[in-house]
Amino acid sequence: MTQDEMKQQVAEAALEYVQAGTIIGVGTGSTANMFIDALASKKDDILGAVASSEVTATRLAGHGIPVLELNDALTQVDSLSVYIDGADEFDPGRNLTKGGGGALTREKIVAAASDQFICIVDQSKQVDYLGAYPLPIEVIPMAEELVSGVAIELGGRPVVRTGFTTDNGNIIIDVHDLKITDALAVEDRLNKVPGVVTNGVFAHQGAHVVLMATPDGVQVL
Ligand code: 5RP
Repeated sequence: MTQDEMKQQVAEAALEYVQAGTIIGVGTGSTANMFIDALASKKDDILGAVASSEVTATRLAGHGIPVLELNDALTQVDSLSVYIDGADEFDPGRNLTKGGGGALTREKIVAAASDQFICIVDQSKQVDYLGAYPLPIEVIPMAEELVSGVAIELGGRPVVRTGFTTDNGNIIIDVHDLKITDALAVEDRLNKVPGVVTNGVFAHQGAHVVLMATPDGVQVL
């Protein structure tokens, strides 16, 4: 089974977590895209979806799925019923790193506004410790050197993502060579640096359920 076939399988499995009559949150990336395509079959069941990026909003709308701004959604409901998104890595505690596609800030906001975060991944994303995949940090441009210095203090090697601006008009610093043994502590440390908009550690907003595709089927973790 190819990686894309596994992504397809797990994207379809996530449909089970979509509750009729609710507003859901939808993530960004190739696995999330497959979920959006699968969601089209249930578009009349839900009130709408909040997108974690402009790309996702466009894809949802292309299928005729109503796209709501988060603020508008939260005037109708107390919370989104579920947030469904991929990840770059997940550890045994269901802490994640995200932001490979640069959408981490809106992803974290939509996850925080949702009752449940269902993370959809293939088995290549499973790790003992986060950090082998470069950790993205969304940064206000004037804080680039300040934030890079803290990343070095943490043992990382910061590299500014070239030719990339986030949906919020900021830069991304990808931090290589980290070994994240305490995900909550690293998330909190980076959040304290002025100029950091969001970092890609999702420990406070970790997954409630990880659906992991394998060649033998989807595992629920
Ligand atoms: C985007 C993300 C994605 O969820 C992450 O990069 C995984 O992407 P893919 O499903 O393409 O492997 O965090 O910002």
